Amino acid sequence: MDRYAVFGNPIGHSKSPLIHQMFAQQTGETLSYEAICAPLDGFAASVATFFSAGLGANVTVPFKEQAWELTVQRSERAEMAGAVNTLLLNEHGEICGDNTDGVGLVTDLVSNHHVQLQGKRVLVLGAGGAVRGILGPLLAQQPLQVVVANRTVEKAEALATLFAQQGAISACGFADITGEFDVIINGTAASLQGEMPPLPAGLVAAHTVCYDMMYSAEPTVFNQWAQSQGAARQIDGLGMLVEQAAEAFFVWRGKRPDTGPVLQQLRADL
Ligand code: ATR
Repeated sequence: MDRYAVFGNPIGHSKSPLIHQMFAQQTGETLSYEAICAPLDGFAASVATFFSAGLGANVTVPFKEQAWELTVQRSERAEMAGAVNTLLLNEHGEICGDNTDGVGLVTDLVSNHHVQLQGKRVLVLGAGGAVRGILGPLLAQQPLQVVVANRTVEKAEALATLFAQQGAISACGFADITGEFDVIINGTAASLQGEMPPLPAGLVAAHTVCYDMMYSAEPTVFNQWAQSQGAARQIDGLGMLVEQAAEAFFVWRGKRPDTGPVLQQLRADL
């Protein structure tokens, strides 16, 4: 049977095996997909062992940057992201890297939630690996402006410089964000700790859409803030998770699964 896997540490709560099993069933593909907890100091060896028989893999925290380093060839989007979440074999049997996270976010926003990004003013909170992964696909939508705001301003500035050729992008600290935004995306790890970045007032208008790249059964702290500010909509990152998986499935199998029912099932199980 064609073998696929997701590598992470920890990996126990990964929803990827369930998602890919549902995709396979839906598209009539025969494959297996397992979760592998790689040792923190043994990711490369674990991947090498798997690929003696495996065809493809996803990579999650904390190995996405290491996955970028061990791949011999990478897609342009993985190159810009500086991280790899999808491993595949080329025609010579070598391990190559792709990154489907950014496309996952944009597909969820644009296709699932019908949020236009073209010509819009977009605020992105955070400047870590997760944010770097989404900036390329975000700028490809031709927003009017993307402002990257981060606790550590230098990291936001570095990202703005890196992506400057791809569109209108600027950087600042939280206290210096000004004006209203059409879309606000939270890519900080603050939600994980139940914290909210210290944002100034006046960023949210009545039409503003707020998107947290994190998800949970209850509204995230960021989405609670968005609601309290009077945002038009608050969306969490469960759809992004399913869409990045669908894009990886397409990379491996050449078939696009219907993500709607899968998302519905995951939401019901949260
Ligand atoms: P990830 O892969 O999730 O992006 P990361 O690369 O460690 O993880 O980046 C974490 C991001 O969340 C950073 O932008 C970080 O801000 P700093 O660059 O200043 O460290 C941000 N972050 C983490 N905890 C935060 C908090 N409590 N408030 C605001 N920002 C926070």
